[in-house]
Amino acid sequence: MTAPEWQDGFVNLWPTTFVQRKLAGHAEADREIQNLVREMDRANRDLTTDYLEPDLFNVDQPGINWLRTQINDTVVEYFRYLGIDYAVNWTIQGWPNVNRFGDYHDTHNHPRAYLSGTYYVKVPKTRERQKNRGDVRPGCITFYDPRPGVNMNAIKDDPYVDPEHTVSPEPGMILLWPAFINHFVHPNLSKEPRISISFNIVLKWSDDYLPEQT
Ligand SMILES: [Fe+2]
Repeated sequence: MTAPEWQDGFVNLWPTTFVQRKLAGHAEADREIQNLVREMDRANRDLTTDYLEPDLFNVDQPGINWLRTQINDTVVEYFRYLGIDYAVNWTIQGWPNVNRFGDYHDTHNHPRAYLSGTYYVKVPKTRERQKNRGDVRPGCITFYDPRPGVNMNAIKDDPYVDPEHTVSPEPGMILLWPAFINHFVHPNLSKEPRISISFNIVLKWSDDYLPEQT
C-alpha cells in the first residue's frame, strides 16, 4: 500500500451539499398537484403517515410529470456539482404531506435512500391568533449538522457556530439533501393546510459506484 497523495494548504473536509431552489413556472403545476393530493386525501385519511402507499411518481398526471422532470434535473445537477461524471441511475419514491393545524413531523432521516427532498405546493400565509413562544417558526423545516457537537467550541465567524439550518418554505421551492441528514418539520399554526411532496432518490445499484479506496 502506498501513502496517500497530500495537498499543501487548506483542505475542506466532510462537506454536506444541500440544494435550495425556487423553480420557475410552478403555478400551473402546483394547482394540478394540489387537486391530486386533495383527491388522495379524501380517499385516505392517513395519507401522510401511510407514506409509502401512494406510488406518486408512477402517476401520469401533468403536475406530477412536471415535478418528476424538475427533480430529475436537480439530481443531475447535484451529481455534476459533486464531480460524479459517470452514469448513475435512480428511482424517485415520493409521497404527499398534508399538515393541518398543529401537525408537525419530529426529527428523522430517510433510511435506504441516497438523497431526499421536498417540493412545496402550498404554504399557509395566515396564522391563528393565539399566544405562543416568541421563537416558534411555524411551517419551517430545520436540518441538523450531522456531526453532533461541532458547534460546542465554535467562536464568532468560524463556520461551525450554527448546528442547524432552517428554511421558511414557499410554493415552488425544492430542497434536496443527503438522506442521512436529520430534519424536523415545525408545527403548522394555520387553519390552512401546508401541502408538500417529499421524495427519496433511491439508487439502482451498480458496482461502478464502488469507491476506489486504498
Ligand atoms: Fe423527511
